[in-house]
Amino acid sequence: MSTRAPAVLDDPAAIAAGDPEGMLGLVASLGTQLREGFATARSVPELPSPEGLRSVVVCGMGGSGVAGDVLRSLYAARLHLPIVVVKGYALPEFCGRDTLVMAMSFSGNTEETLVAYAEAVARGCRVVTVAAGGELATLSEADDVTRVSIPGTIPVPRAALGYLSAAPLGVLDAMAMLPAAERDVEAAAVLLDGLATELGPDRTLQDNVAKDLAAWLQGRTPVVWGSEGLAEAPAVRWKTQINENAKVPAWVGILSEVDHNEIEGWSEGSGRPYGLVALRHREEHQRMAARFAATLQAIESAGLEAREVWATPSAGALGSMLSLIMTGDFVATYLAILRGVDPTPVPVLSALKERLRP
Ligand code: PA5
Repeated sequence: MSTRAPAVLDDPAAIAAGDPEGMLGLVASLGTQLREGFATARSVPELPSPEGLRSVVVCGMGGSGVAGDVLRSLYAARLHLPIVVVKGYALPEFCGRDTLVMAMSFSGNTEETLVAYAEAVARGCRVVTVAAGGELATLSEADDVTRVSIPGTIPVPRAALGYLSAAPLGVLDAMAMLPAAERDVEAAAVLLDGLATELGPDRTLQDNVAKDLAAWLQGRTPVVWGSEGLAEAPAVRWKTQINENAKVPAWVGILSEVDHNEIEGWSEGSGRPYGLVALRHREEHQRMAARFAATLQAIESAGLEAREVWATPSAGALGSMLSLIMTGDFVATYLAILRGVDPTPVPVLSALKERLRP
C-alpha cells in the first residue's frame, strides 16, 4: 500500500486505476437505485396484511443491516409502531404473529440473518425477505414467503444501499403504513442525482467537499459523530464505509450520548491522531447547536481537530439523510484511492466468512 498526494483525486487515470471495480460509479447511482428499489418493492405481490400489526423488525448484518438503521432513523418518531433493528442471531421475545419481520441479506447467505429468518417463520411472524439470491431466496420460495429481489449485478452488498434501503420503504408503503413515501423517494432521488455531480470525480478537489474531506482524513483515525435522529444511520454508515472501503479503523458516536461518556476519554493531547467529522442536520433538536459547541469546547485540550458536514436541505427527511450517507460513501472511496487500496473487495471479512462456513 502506498499513500498518494491529494492531487491524484483530480487525475482520471489514477482514479480509474485506484477504483478498478467502479465503486465511485456505484456510489453515484444511489438516487437511481432508490427509485428502482422502491418501485420494485412496492409492486411485489402477496405482501402480508397490515391488519393488527404491532411491531416491525428488520434483521440484517453489515451492508444489508444498514437498511434497518435508515428505516428506524427516518420513521421511529413518525410511525405508531415500534421499529426494531436486529443485527445478530436472536429475534426479540415479543416477535410473533403480529410482527412484520423483514429479513435482509444481499447475498442471501448470511448466517445470523438466516437464523433470525428461520425463527421468524417458526413463530408465525409475517415475514418478507430481501435478497439478491442465495439460501434466503431458496428458503423464501420453499416457505412461500414473499421476497423482494435485489439486482445481483452489484458486486458487494454495501454498494446496493439504495436498493436495500428502498425495499422496506416500498413494502411498508404498499401495506399503507407510511405517510407520503413516494413523494419523499422522488425528492430524495432528484437531490442525490445532483449531489453525485457535486461530489463526483469530475469536480476538482478545490470544489469538492468529499475529496477535500478525504484528503484531510488521510493519516488520521476518523471519529464520526452524528446528531440524534436523521444523522444516526449516516454516522454508522460513515464509520463502516471508512472501515470497508478505505480499510482503516474508525469510531462512531451519537450526540448527545457522547456527552455522557466519550468526552471523558478526550483527555489532554489525546485527540492529535484523530479527525472528528460531525454530521449535522436542520431537523435536529433545537438544543443540539449549543450542545455541539459546548462539547467541542469541553474537550478543547484534547487537540482533536473537527469538521462539520451538514445534510443537504431536502423536501423530505429521506433526502437529507441520504445526502449525508452519499457524502460519506464518496469520502470513504476517495480515502481508499489516496491510500492505494482497492475500495471494493473486503478480503479480511470474506476470509472470515469462509472460515466460519458450516
Ligand atoms: O459490506 C459487506 O460486505 C458486509 O457488511 C455484508 O453486508 C455483511 O457481511 C452481510 O452480508 P449480506 O449483506 O450479504 O447479508
